[in-house]
Amino acid sequence: MYSSDLDLTPFNTFGLPARAHRLWRVESVADARAYVAQRQDDVPPLVLGGGSNLLFRSGEIATVLKVEIRGRKKLAETAEAVIVEVGAGENWHDFVQWTLAQGWPGLENLALIPGSVGAAPIQNIGAYGMEMAERFESLDALDLESGETREFDAAACRFGYRASIFRSTPGRWLVTALRFRLPKPWQPRLGYGELARELAAQGVVMPNALQVAEAVSTIRRRKLPDPAVLGNAGSFFKNPLVDTASCAALLARHPALPHYPQADGQVKLASGWLIEACGWKGKRLGAAGCHEHQALVLVNHGGASGVDILRLAEAIRADVRARFGVELEIEPVVV
Ligand code: EPU
Repeated sequence: MYSSDLDLTPFNTFGLPARAHRLWRVESVADARAYVAQRQDDVPPLVLGGGSNLLFRSGEIATVLKVEIRGRKKLAETAEAVIVEVGAGENWHDFVQWTLAQGWPGLENLALIPGSVGAAPIQNIGAYGMEMAERFESLDALDLESGETREFDAAACRFGYRASIFRSTPGRWLVTALRFRLPKPWQPRLGYGELARELAAQGVVMPNALQVAEAVSTIRRRKLPDPAVLGNAGSFFKNPLVDTASCAALLARHPALPHYPQADGQVKLASGWLIEACGWKGKRLGAAGCHEHQALVLVNHGGASGVDILRLAEAIRADVRARFGVELEIEPVVV
């Protein structure tokens, strides 16, 4: 199915204006192949899921492939795990809820993340002490240049912090289906301080997976703006990684700086804290704003363009660079 000259404002959670010259609805692998078979240009198409990690810098997009492949089922169950398969066009949170309702815990820390299942591996979504890669089994993707399908295991996806092979080759692959490995027996993952504190505040000592999902949802609703009310794309910057010496120098001047040592020896800093320290939390530049409850989230107060958001982002980056000597990297995909 195909339409031309379509307004993309409702298709991105930032609510930014853009037009698609052509939009293909991809409801099956066959639909995606049909697009490749008729393709005449070599302009990479925009593969669109829930549009929740996207910033339109350009108002004109040549071709959009809107992934709407549905379906979810159990593929296998052993003493160690349940393997589930899900279509890339399913909503991520609905999928998480479905696994929990089936009695298959494992994805509860990733509850309420906006967007589609197919977008999850592109940036290896993560929150509250878990990354998608930890539950990932494999995926199927269609090569938009050759029309061939290929199966990727975790190693082939090259997952990193908000990174994957798909993220670094935009327009090349269309993810069609994913498989997740949900471990048995299950243990709650409560290492993230704020999550443990939320459960303790609720008086929950040995939480089940539904309680973990509920606590995660409560924290998210408290801090993160609902895109239906205030346009946004979640965290607008990645948390920067610095070496131990740079971190020590920063800590000497800013003892309260949140810092998280990583397995590879680097230290992750909290962009939200750096931005707040520069005075940006709750501030606006025209219609683009820095969220009042979470400085890492930039918002569209109504009528902002992608250029307006990027102007605010540049002002924030310049201040963080001047004050802390740290470079912030933009997290959403800029189109
Ligand atoms: N902080 C501030 N001021 C702020 C925001 C945060 O001082 O305005 C401090 C907090 O007090 C805390 C630290 O910064 O000490 C970390 O904050 P938080 O726990 O809110 O997490 P984050 O680093 O800001 C990351 C992810 C989120 C994810 C949360 C929870 C990235 C870029 N962001 O945010 O992911 O939900 O952790 O795990 O890694 C997303 O990617 O879109 C996203 C929302």
